[in-house]
Parts: sequence; structure tokens; C-alpha cells
Amino acid sequence: TMVEKQGFKHYMLKEIYEQPGVFRAGLASYISENDHLKLGLPKGFVERIERVEIIACGTSWHASLVGKYLLEQIAGVPTSVQYASEYRYSPPPSLSNTLVIGVTQSGETADTLAALELAKLRGDRCLGITNRVESSIGRIADAVIDTQAGIEIGVAATKTFIAQLLMFYILALEFGITKGSLSSERSQELIDGLRQLPAYMERILESQERYIEELSRQFTHTKDFIFLGRGINFPIALEGALKLKEISYIHAEGYPAGEMKHGPIALLDEDVPVVAIATPGSVYEKVLSNSQEAKARDAKLIGVAPLDDPAAHEVFDYILPIPVVDEIFSPILTVIPLQLLAYHVAAHRGLDVDQPRNLAKSVTVE
Ligand code: G6P
Repeated sequence: TMVEKQGFKHYMLKEIYEQPGVFRAGLASYISENDHLKLGLPKGFVERIERVEIIACGTSWHASLVGKYLLEQIAGVPTSVQYASEYRYSPPPSLSNTLVIGVTQSGETADTLAALELAKLRGDRCLGITNRVESSIGRIADAVIDTQAGIEIGVAATKTFIAQLLMFYILALEFGITKGSLSSERSQELIDGLRQLPAYMERILESQERYIEELSRQFTHTKDFIFLGRGINFPIALEGALKLKEISYIHAEGYPAGEMKHGPIALLDEDVPVVAIATPGSVYEKVLSNSQEAKARDAKLIGVAPLDDPAAHEVFDYILPIPVVDEIFSPILTVIPLQLLAYHVAAHRGLDVDQPRNLAKSVTVE
């Protein structure tokens, strides 16, 4: 292939490292220096829209769940997310002024294309978010947003996920500003906050990779993992579990931390490590106390958490430290240690990280 590994052992690791640059470039493309949004959506795509339905598969579906959180919490736009393979055969009742967004890195996922075609037939405005504007989704959607992450070779999506998240931040800003549901102070704060993230992402990569590589060794023979998160980091728990499943073949479940007591807690013992995403904000104490419940069942606890909080140190056996930022931005940072964890566990197991068994980069059959 034309894309080189540039000294990285696998494309996936290289792509993980490209994320701060992808984020920076995406910001430069879609927010001008004087803070104007430049998504370039056709007229009527935002103004008259009253609700959003997002359809996607896999990692793109996880990005969409974060997107729902952002569209609802930043812009106040009611949003639903459905797997494309489900939407196809049970679409929600058709309502006017709905924007349907198909999110697909490859632009070729058969279920996502079919679901979007159905939405179009129903008369909805259709937007695509993709890393391949020249792909089939570009033909089906009324407009597309280019995630501009550059070609991704690793089957497990990393930098395209980060790029999809960025598009949702900008789209939520666009909705909030256009519909007047977002104050100009808050929108300025959000734009400034986005611009600070690449430096934090770099710091996480620089400071944690060695540690995570070392920590991962002890999980080479682990059979099950649980990932917990709440609120905006629940989808990141799902994504952390998916990354691990995809490339290490270790069974992993992502769960909303508050639901653990309704089932998964029965799985816990000293052989089932728990990774909890605990970042300061609306659910921080709750996640810490959910983690404490896991600890009481002898589970080994890994926290994606702030470095300097004694409360977190008390609960977690290991901390993958995250700089403290406005909770709304935390997914951009919390996903990185989880990608590294999945990568290093798989690499220690000697697996073909870039080409995991049974998986394809794009699934063009139903
Ligand atoms: C495949 C890939 C996943 C990806 C999913 C959706 O299953 O292995 O990594 O998340 O397809 O792909 P898309 O191109 O639609 O984002």
C-alpha cells in the first residue's frame, strides 16, 4: 500500500498517534481563525430541523451516541441513534423536519447506505459524515461532511472515530448558534476548549504509552473485561470494549456504570478486570462509587481518571491519567488510553493488529 508505517510497528499505532494532528487540521478546516463555523451545509439543513436521527454501524455508531449527547446537551435538538441494520427494517415513525445523518468512515457500509436511502425515500433531509466523500454515501446523501482524517488502514477505527467526534462538536455548535439555543459566551468557551484538546491528546500519548504497554502485559491471558462509563463517556466504554474485542479477541463488555448492579456484577471476580472512565463532571462521584462496588468483588480496577485526585487513587489499582477538562470534551481524551490498552494487549498476544480475523475494513454486504 501507498501509506507507510513511518517506523510504527502497526498502522493502528501510527493512526492512534495521528489523532492530535487530525483534530487540529479538522478544526482549521471547519472553524475559521475568527471563530466562524465553516461546515458549508446547504440552506435549510439546520434552521428548520426539529429533530435528528443518526444511523451507523460499529465504531461510527459509538461516535453517533456521543453526537446525540452533544446535539441534545449543547444545542437542545432531540436526537435518536439507531443501528443502520435495525433502522432498515423498523424505521421510526416519519416526522416532518427531521434530519437523518448517516455516519460511516468508509462510506460503503451496506446497511448504512440502505438505511439512508430509505430515509431519503421517506422525504427526510439526509446528511452523510464520512472519511470518503467520493464513496457511495456521497451519492446518496443531500450533503456530506468530510471528516478529513486521511486514509485509515487499521481495520479497528481510531483516527476516523476522533474525526467523527469533532464533526459532531462542530455540528452541535452550528445547531446551537443557528437556533439560538446556545449563548455566545458558551459557544466561545466551547470553541476555545476544542482548540486546547490537541495539546492534551499529545500529552496523553507521550506520557502514557510506555506505562500502558507495561500494564497490558498482565492481561495477555485475561478472558473477560468490563468497561464502565456514564453520560458522555458511556459510548467511550462501549468503544473501549469494542477495540479490545476486535483486535485482542478478549471478551469485553461496555456497560453504563449505573447498570452494573443489574447483571454484569454477577460476572465479577479477581479474574475480570474492570476499566472505569471517571472524569470530573456530573457523574464523577457516581462512577467512583460504582467502581467501589466492583472492587468489593475483588475485580482489578483500572481508572481512566484525573491524576491528582485522592478519591480516585483510593478506588483504582491503576490510573490512566486524563487532564481535567470540561466534561463535554472528555471523550476526546478518554478514548486514547483505551485504544492504547487494546493495541498493546493485542500486540503482546502476538496478533495481527491491523488485520484481525473475521473483520473487514468496510462491510459492503448486508
Ligand atoms: C466494520 C469495521 C468497523 C467499523 C464498521 C462501520 O465492521 O470493522 O471498524 O466501525 O465496519 O464502518 P463504517 O465505514 O460504516 O464506519
